[in-house]
Amino acid sequence: MAEMTTAWSVDHSAYPVTGPASVQLEFLVRYAVLAPSTHNTQPWLFRVRGDSLELFADRGRALPVCDPEDRELVISCGAALGIAQLAARNFGYEGAIELLPAGGHPDLLARLRLGSRRAPDAAEARRFRAIPDRRTTRTAFATNEIPIETLATLQRLAAHRHATLVYANTTGDREAIAELVAKADQLQMQNPAFRAELAQWLRPGHAPDGDGMSIASFGYRDNLSGAAAAVIRTFDLGAGIAARDRQLVAGSPVLALLFTDQDGPANWLRTGMALADILLEATAAGLQAAFLNQPVEIPELRAGLGAIVGSRRIPQLLMRFGRGPKVPPSGRREVRLVIGG
Ligand SMILES: Cc1cc2nc3c(=O)[nH]c(=O)nc-3n(C[C@H](O)[C@H](O)[C@H](O)COP(=O)(O)O)c2cc1C
Repeated sequence: MAEMTTAWSVDHSAYPVTGPASVQLEFLVRYAVLAPSTHNTQPWLFRVRGDSLELFADRGRALPVCDPEDRELVISCGAALGIAQLAARNFGYEGAIELLPAGGHPDLLARLRLGSRRAPDAAEARRFRAIPDRRTTRTAFATNEIPIETLATLQRLAAHRHATLVYANTTGDREAIAELVAKADQLQMQNPAFRAELAQWLRPGHAPDGDGMSIASFGYRDNLSGAAAAVIRTFDLGAGIAARDRQLVAGSPVLALLFTDQDGPANWLRTGMALADILLEATAAGLQAAFLNQPVEIPELRAGLGAIVGSRRIPQLLMRFGRGPKVPPSGRREVRLVIGG
């Protein structure tokens, strides 16, 4: 099986500066596909139409058990949109976005136009350069403190996308969150349908397919890889996973919750754009990030998360940040497979 990680070596000097808008927009997709996505499903499709790049949800890649409303699917698409916009800005355009265009196809999530010319700013260029280095890092992080200015920058980036990033600072808050994550792990892993869906997106070894998650990225040894998906499908490993996640929460220097004011597709797209900015800024600052979204995925636990940090807003993502090892990139499908005519 070919290594499907070449997508990460995208060469910015190949940008078709003098080409027509349609060719420039198509180039942006090379960056968009490097976005994070739930279970690495890459649930997006792109189409260049006139002077705009259209982004569609690929609902054939949905996770009906873990994400029945397609909330995380749309967040993932929002992250791809945010990265495409950042790339447009880096190449000297405004990158104008229209969310959920009226009268369009039900799966049409957004349109991106190059827009007017503008010089890229230094912070955007820094985040742009971080695109190929960003990873989801599921290992434990060192306990070193993270500079307060970096944390404030991440909050400003979220606010810029109409989202709110809140840190869980007290030991009590962190313990309560660890409790919810552990409870969610157990509930999810008790459910054979959840396990079957997860196993379907697990891929053997370090050489990922074009999509899905490698077993190695969860810290399982490579020589277990053939068996691990079958084991996950068959057995309830909830107690072990809950114990590991409890430790990860307790040991992470920064635990952060991303909220929105309302809960609908526009908020999910904005969450994804905020997520892209936050993760790229963190990467540029030498940090690693991972997700612990399990309690957000279970309606009975979701509301409790906000209450822990004293927020009435709606939790969308639970993340941890810190310093950790550099892990191999995950697979990506070829760009030609996600661009439609
Ligand atoms: C909306 C969303 C939710 C996610 N939830 C989780 C999660 O709960 N646990 C986890 O380990 N990774 C989670 N991820 C990370 C994805 O699994 C990861 O982005 C994907 O496997 C691709 O790997 P990469 O981020 O290293 O490119 C999530 C990503 C997104 C965008």
